[in-house]
Amino acid sequence: MTENIEKFIAAFADSLANETFIKMTLGNYRGTDAHLQKLLIRLVETKKGARLFFLFRQDTRDTAKNFDFAEGAAKVKEALGADFFSGHLFTLNNDFQLDIGKKGKSRLNVAKPTFNTKPEAAHDREKQTLVNSNSFYLKALGITTERGEIRDKQQDKWKQINRFVETLGSLIDKSPLAERRKLNIVDMGSGKGYLTFAAYDYFKNTRKIDVQITGVDTKQELVSIDNDIAKASEFENLRFVHGWIGDYALENVDVLIALHACNTATDDAIFKGIAARADLIVVAPCCHQEIRPQMKAPDFLSGIFRHGVMLEREAETVTDGLRSLLLEKSGYSTKLFEFIATEHTPKNNMIVGTRREKTVDEDKLAEQIRAIKEFYGIKTQRLEILLNG
Ligand SMILES: C[S@@+](CC[C@H](N)C(=O)[O-])C[C@H]1O[C@@H](n2cnc3c(N)ncnc32)[C@H](O)[C@@H]1O
Repeated sequence: MTENIEKFIAAFADSLANETFIKMTLGNYRGTDAHLQKLLIRLVETKKGARLFFLFRQDTRDTAKNFDFAEGAAKVKEALGADFFSGHLFTLNNDFQLDIGKKGKSRLNVAKPTFNTKPEAAHDREKQTLVNSNSFYLKALGITTERGEIRDKQQDKWKQINRFVETLGSLIDKSPLAERRKLNIVDMGSGKGYLTFAAYDYFKNTRKIDVQITGVDTKQELVSIDNDIAKASEFENLRFVHGWIGDYALENVDVLIALHACNTATDDAIFKGIAARADLIVVAPCCHQEIRPQMKAPDFLSGIFRHGVMLEREAETVTDGLRSLLLEKSGYSTKLFEFIATEHTPKNNMIVGTRREKTVDEDKLAEQIRAIKEFYGIKTQRLEILLNG
């Protein structure tokens, strides 16, 4: 090993020992993994103390693992000059940039530090929000920076995360689940998992509820990285599973969530929730594609609906209205509202169904649904088809 590589590794070890380590990136990968591009290393606080969190950035997906300091330092030593040929280390004292050439020659540049405070110190200045901006999972998901600051491009997502957690907490408080100390929540179409992680952290760590949350998504790469981050965060009862909403065997669920699940995936999720007798069903639909091509408004409205944007809005209103009526007919009381201002996301309608014990006049609701469909010339609606078996 050349002197520069040794110096770089020694600086890394010193920064861990002196608690001046901020983060490190290994790049210029020339190993055998065709997909691996970079290795990003940062600190994570676990119940067992501080650990090194390794995020392996690949072209198609990311994987992650955490190591204790000795293991992590050994991994870095092994990889530098063998697989990775550049390293960038940030400490409170200096930045170190290592470049290893093809013939083994190397260059080490030591510069003034970019960071002069540790991420934790920056966190103390953060204003209070329901979601803790210094949470490790927010950094790992790219919402916050190393210092726990919200990234500029993630401001809308951050508002949405907080608003969602606040809304979900309040819906639960107003539901028959209000006094429950144990909750089983399933998030269908969990995607990158921002909302799933935030909900878990809030119920488990802020409200001290014994919560179990499962995220379901068809994208294996997102499921894998979310499971890695959940493990590194020591969120023991948060897991992500790969699969289709329609195929998921849903049982013993208290709260069913489906946020921005594409098109009729929202109907599949609502149906699963109804079939499993979930106490609370919370969905925020997106891309309403099923109803619009079927809609034929009566002649007297043609002057309005010849404008695509008006038809689009009407299709959205009718789709979510029908979903809400079908939930009512299935024994749920419903609310439909905008859960966040449109400037943060245009997909902001939320439909909430709370299971009620009292029976409803199903025939009256069936007649309303029939009349609406007839008025607009709608032949099929996914949720209705599923409910009719
Ligand atoms: C727009 S993202 C929303 C992610 C997250 N719920 C949110 O609101 O930030 C929609 C996710 O739903 C997933 N999805 C869509 N249809 C699905 C289905 N039928 N079964 C499982 N996942 C589905 C997609 O893979 C995608 O990750």
